[in-house]
Amino acid sequence: MTIEQDRRSPPCALVIFGASGDLTARKLLPALERLTAFGGLPPEVRLVGVARTAMTDDEFGEYCRRTVPADGNSRWKELAATARYVHGGYDDPATYQRLSEVLADSDRMYGTAGNRLYYFATPPRLFSPLAVNLGKAGLSKPSGAGFVRAVIEKPFGWDEESARELYADLVSAFEEEQIFRIDHYLAKETVQNLLALRFANSIFEPIWNRTWVDNVQITVAETLGVGDRGGFYETTGAMRDIVQNHVLQVLSLFLMEPPTSFHPEAIRDEKVKLLRAIRPLDDERDIAANAVRGQYTRGGTREDLMPGYREEAGVDPLSSTETFVALRLDIDNWRWTGVPVYVRTGKRLPARVTEVAIEFHQPPQLPLFPGGAAHLQRDALIVRVAPDEGLSLRFGAKVPGHAFTVEKASMDFSYESFVQQSPDAYERVLLDALIGDPTLFIRADEVGRSWRIVDPVLKYWDRAAQPIPLYQAATWGPPEATMLIERDGRSWRHSG
Ligand SMILES: NC(=O)c1ccc[n+]([C@@H]2O[C@H](COP(=O)([O-])OP(=O)(O)OC[C@H]3O[C@@H](n4cnc5c(N)ncnc54)[C@H](OP(=O)(O)O)[C@@H]3O)[C@@H](O)[C@H]2O)c1
Repeated sequence: MTIEQDRRSPPCALVIFGASGDLTARKLLPALERLTAFGGLPPEVRLVGVARTAMTDDEFGEYCRRTVPADGNSRWKELAATARYVHGGYDDPATYQRLSEVLADSDRMYGTAGNRLYYFATPPRLFSPLAVNLGKAGLSKPSGAGFVRAVIEKPFGWDEESARELYADLVSAFEEEQIFRIDHYLAKETVQNLLALRFANSIFEPIWNRTWVDNVQITVAETLGVGDRGGFYETTGAMRDIVQNHVLQVLSLFLMEPPTSFHPEAIRDEKVKLLRAIRPLDDERDIAANAVRGQYTRGGTREDLMPGYREEAGVDPLSSTETFVALRLDIDNWRWTGVPVYVRTGKRLPARVTEVAIEFHQPPQLPLFPGGAAHLQRDALIVRVAPDEGLSLRFGAKVPGHAFTVEKASMDFSYESFVQQSPDAYERVLLDALIGDPTLFIRADEVGRSWRIVDPVLKYWDRAAQPIPLYQAATWGPPEATMLIERDGRSWRHSG
């Protein structure tokens, strides 16, 4: 695999704040190594690490090489060998002074041309002070024709209000166009394939509306529990961790109107329009009827007994943090009125699956089916994001034999049928940010609108007097989730 000319980074100093951390080691350094291997990073791209852990330039370079050995990749070895490191606290002006000197050196010695990409790989509470202090140090604005961009990771705030505060701090230093908010889900090949599926084919668009579609289901199911991230999860929960960002992003991409062009802003405009059309659950009765939370308890088999959430390390034994969410969302626009979108995500569910499915209306009554067509499952188009990335079309087919029996059959496409390997999501987002393509990054208005949808539900759950519904580990959530969809005469795609 090679990267085309226009998919090569321009000269740039790539500054990673939180360079000693988990994200840097597990995602960013491996992605940089792959990009050097495929020719995406020219010699005028240089690496600068910033963190409080004491290290010299050489020690940081050695840390990069140890973390990703890649002995055969000379460009990676060179990037690591010339890496610079700034050791200091994020509230100390001296840190920014040293960074400024290192960046000036980098421009002089390696031709990084005044271009900077700041990657905020720190705990989220440092995003605001980092942005504000970069601004105060005069490091947030481009000089001359160069660019300065800031890449930030979710979470973008903790609720509607804190998201607004974070936004105010970010834009005190950077213009909105300089801010690249990552949702690495959007960089997955299958998620991008949603765009290809919808807009590179003419067969789907005519049926992509309320006339043909009965309901949409989005499932993000994990078999794992919180593991050693109990402390983090206690302050997050499934709604903030998965629904506010990944689910709403995928939903908006899947159901938005066709953009007028593939210009990044045209796509992001359509996504935010779709998010605005989602009817917020404001009324308490609406929330109670359309939003279900749950928390896993001990479960599994005798050989494989899984602890309950409240038994996990770092979790309050009385915790009411949700590890499961099911929602019915309604979209008030011309295309989707009357088509419910059912969303379900959780930990310790029976299968690991991330998919988006469109279920089509059942056929009308036919004389061929004396008992009516109601027993037939709906035809469905399923986009599998993980695992086994691909597409399936499910439809009814006659079982061979004298009787007229119809069963579901499917046509499957697997991404494995392509010889090319999919790039890792972080490879994609790093290169996009270096090139300056914001298509797969989230704009401030999308963040605000997503909080507008989930925040009233979270606040309602905080106030709720009723205890959180429980489900046994390795089951599909609490009974309330089944009721949520079955009362509409439908069922979850995965429920066996
Ligand atoms: N890890 C992942 O797989 C992952 C996945 C998706 C998103 N994210 C997001 O990526 C960001 C970084 O995650 P991470 O897991 O890499 O975080 P992390 O390992 O906990 O922290 C990164 C670095 O920040 C510094 N740090 C920690 N606490 C600090 C404090 N109170 N003050 C100043 N510096 C502090 C530490 O370096 P020093 O002590 O050396 O300064 C640490 O090595 C977060 O926003 C996270 O939500 C992470």
